[in-house]
Amino acid sequence: MRLTIKNLQGKTICISEKNTILQSLGENAIDWMQACGAKGRCTTCKMVVLQGNEYLADYTEVEKKFVAQKRLLANERLACQVKPKNLQNDYEVIIQVPKTYQLPHILYND
Ligand code: FES
Repeated sequence: MRLTIKNLQGKTICISEKNTILQSLGENAIDWMQACGAKGRCTTCKMVVLQGNEYLADYTEVEKKFVAQKRLLANERLACQVKPKNLQNDYEVIIQVPKTYQLPHILYND
């Protein structure tokens, strides 16, 4: 499955159901905010899903907690929690980095 980060110059990487999105980003040398170290406590790894949320695994208990607290909107997922579904075809998920959690040393195009 492919993951495209729209406001990161449309960079596209391959993602696997074995890894969280954050792990796949790290394996592809893409820096991503993660203030709590992927422990599901901070929401700074938030990503906005523009297309293909149906290709991602169901919300984790951690994500459900943040949805209930309105700290995670319907089109937002936590990169440190979510994995893609195990699908055979070459589907694409398109995301973007929310302005609030953009890193200062990275050039975003939005
Ligand atoms: S890195 Fe803190 S919730 Fe994902």
